[in-house]
Amino acid sequence: MVLRRILFLLSVITIMKYGKGQKSDNSSTEIPLLDNLNMPLVALFDTTKLNEVLKIAIQKTVEDTMNEMVPQIKQAVIKDIGNEPGRKRERPAFTASLTSSKSLASNEVVVFDKVWLNIGGVYSQDTGVFTAPKTGLYSISTTVMSYYAKYLHCFLWKNNERMVQAFGNNLSTGTLNVVMALKMNDKVFVKHAGGTEIIVGEHRSTFSGYLISK
Ligand SMILES: *[C@@H]1O[C@H](CO)[C@@H](O)[C@H](O)[C@H]1NC(C)=O
Ligand SMILES: *[C@@H]1O[C@H](CO)[C@@H](O)[C@H](O)[C@H]1NC(C)=O
Repeated sequence: MVLRRILFLLSVITIMKYGKGQKSDNSSTEIPLLDNLNMPLVALFDTTKLNEVLKIAIQKTVEDTMNEMVPQIKQAVIKDIGNEPGRKRERPAFTASLTSSKSLASNEVVVFDKVWLNIGGVYSQDTGVFTAPKTGLYSISTTVMSYYAKYLHCFLWKNNERMVQAFGNNLSTGTLNVVMALKMNDKVFVKHAGGTEIIVGEHRSTFSGYLISK
């Protein structure tokens, strides 16, 4: 569609250039109608307004093209580098939450399925695991909410090491805010402990983190 419009413009510009070669602003053409009768057909075109009309047409075409192309280009860039253009240098960070309440089996990793932010693609919504993209100091937070009249036990894990606990009872939340020195490719996640328990969704349970410094 855009290409066709550009081709149309090119042909109009060619006509305009031809028209500029004429002495007057009007152009005419003579065509012999019959071999023996030299009767000319004279066609007059008022070309005085051509420039103005062309200017408007070009402006509109460029504007329409930009409006169509810019979102497509932006999407392609986001797909390619995983960030919005101009935010490439931003530090790794993620925020995720739980959409629906869920029954957790013994030792099940909590998969926070709704991803709100994932700069550098550091969090997996399939496994619930955050992988440190580089060695550094990280801030990690989680909030888990327990079901009505029930307990909920969750721990923060770093690779094979069980760390601090987030605990809830009867619609209360357990919250952790920790600073961790992580090596590149260290894995951090929230894992349920004990027997089957319910974690409340509706985005009341969250998991997030970001690189503080290298
Ligand atoms: C062009 O032709 C039109 C129609 O014949 C006429 O009214 C106009 O004055 C002409 N313009 C010029 C610049 O010759
Ligand atoms: C749960 O909390 C509600 C609201 O505070 C309270 O009314 C209820 O008695 C509690 N239930 C249990 C089993 O602790």
